[in-house]
Amino acid sequence: MSGDFLLINEVGPRDGLQNQRMAVGVDDKLRLIQALVAAGVQAIEATSFVSPKAVPQMADADALFPRLPVGPRYSALVPNERGLARALAAGVPEIAVVLSATETMNQRNIRMSLAEAQAECERTLAAARTAQLRTKAYVAVAFECPYEGPVAARQVHALIDAMASAGADTVVIADTIGAAAPKAVDTLLREALSSHGAERLAAHFHDTRGMALANAWVCLEAGIRQLDSSLGGLGGCPFAPGAAGNLATEDLLLLASQSGLSTGIDLPALLQAIELAAELTQQPLGGRSHRWLTRQRAV
Ligand code: COA
Ligand code: ZN
Repeated sequence: MSGDFLLINEVGPRDGLQNQRMAVGVDDKLRLIQALVAAGVQAIEATSFVSPKAVPQMADADALFPRLPVGPRYSALVPNERGLARALAAGVPEIAVVLSATETMNQRNIRMSLAEAQAECERTLAAARTAQLRTKAYVAVAFECPYEGPVAARQVHALIDAMASAGADTVVIADTIGAAAPKAVDTLLREALSSHGAERLAAHFHDTRGMALANAWVCLEAGIRQLDSSLGGLGGCPFAPGAAGNLATEDLLLLASQSGLSTGIDLPALLQAIELAAELTQQPLGGRSHRWLTRQRAV
């Protein structure tokens, strides 16, 4: 990957929509993803193959995936080998597993202990690699857990190392509830970078405390060139109380373009996709720059 390109992985269709009270149907999800593709988004986490009882909003994953428009690099989250089997049947080229850094978060999210969750992630990664899929592993609640509070950095490093050893092509450091601040991100990244290098690392921030963009900047300065974001800041997590929406894609795009990084994304077309997402989820959406960006477009 060239040094001046930032791969923005759009997670709105999964992390964003999984948390909505409104059910968004398959055809509307496809319209939304089509709008993202039209905006030039290069990577999209389209859905998750999880238990429909746990996350009813993602119950249509098997129907959605085969209908996705060609173009971007698509991925899907899978919580276990059952999810992987469904993903393989649907033609998913890249899967993501999620390992939370604390006992309680694993229990609440996937009803497994940390040790069980780690073993399940390792088995799923191995099976996905055998099937020649690309793989990502999220280390979730990497800074603070909504149930256990601050998370020790050494615990997070151990899990990053475990997921890398298990063969994850990319390890994603995830601030699931938006509790990280730039200094903590910098400290955590330093050691992870020295062990794994920037090409193998990515990050995922939520904007609960208004620091997502500052945290993203720390990653860019450290050489990381893969970051998650969600259009209009759509998102949250049903299993992590208090988690607000994700870092907004338009904010990250603006930061990237003003920092000399290309993303392939067309801003006016992204604003149209955000309008559609707001209409489909019946709520106002938009990151910190959204109002200004919309005014600029009108001028
Ligand atoms: N896809 C679809 N169904 C699945 C599944 C999957 N990947 N994994 C398990 N199931 C089904 C089982 O077949 C079983 O169905 P049944 O009740 O009809 O027999 C049911 O779900 C319970 O299975 P079990 O193995 O006992 O799982 P559980 O109830 O302990 O739940 C998870 C474990 C991981 C499946 C569930 O907690 C989950 O999907 N969590 C995902 C949460 C999430 O997406 N969080 C946000 C992203 S990090
Ligand atoms: Zn998230």
